[in-house]
Amino acid sequence: MKRLSPLVVGNWKMNGLRADLIELASIAEAAKDTPMVGVAICPPFTLIAEAAANTPGLPIGAQDCDTRVSGAHTGNVSAPMIADAGGQLVIVGHSERRAEQGESNTLVRAKAEAGLSAGLLVIVCVGETEAERDAGRAEAVVEEQLAGSLPDDGADRLVVAYEPVWAIGTGRTPTNEDIAAMHAAIRAHLEGRYGAEGGAVPILYGGSVKPSNANEILALPHVNGALVGGASLKVADFGPIIAAAAASA
Ligand code: PGA
Repeated sequence: MKRLSPLVVGNWKMNGLRADLIELASIAEAAKDTPMVGVAICPPFTLIAEAAANTPGLPIGAQDCDTRVSGAHTGNVSAPMIADAGGQLVIVGHSERRAEQGESNTLVRAKAEAGLSAGLLVIVCVGETEAERDAGRAEAVVEEQLAGSLPDDGADRLVVAYEPVWAIGTGRTPTNEDIAAMHAAIRAHLEGRYGAEGGAVPILYGGSVKPSNANEILALPHVNGALVGGASLKVADFGPIIAAAAASA
């Protein structure tokens, strides 16, 4: 998929049966009204092929990939398999995987490299825990994650998502000032690392984005879109978020 900015990506997590694919047609329809906004949905692996075939106008992606192309790795899914199923992007380093599967920065970086090698757009997630923010270490933690998780090459196919762990699925969000400060710090890191290409890497905010807060969050400087969990499951919620991204463009 073309890397547009703003970009709004839905992360369905471990939600969605084939019957839920019906939502995708409406999401594709909503996205059609706002061609300047990139819109994509990352359903579970099981739905990628059918989703991609059913809604060719809506880029479909995965929520994880293995670092390797193929082999004896029971239960894992490789980036070329995602591409073969019609997937166009992959999320790596989501905090739920970092926490539940113990994924390290080094592993996340290898996954990002695998995604890029397979021709996918790669969204690398970073974000601090509540304890880290309370300790005044939020920016240091995110800086360390960026330094360790981002690949050295392929910045033109990269997207970064800042998702404070304590804001995911909780209904709580940082203040606008805190979001803006973190996104500015991430932008500085990207420019330091990749030069002018780093200035063009979209930085998404994620964590309890919903229709009622999308307008103000998406209008903040260096917020180039959103990674949306719960509110991406239904077009009634996701549609207004796409519209908010369009208004910020
Ligand atoms: P949420 O999840 O929108 O449900 O908070 C965001 C994410 O984890 O990507």
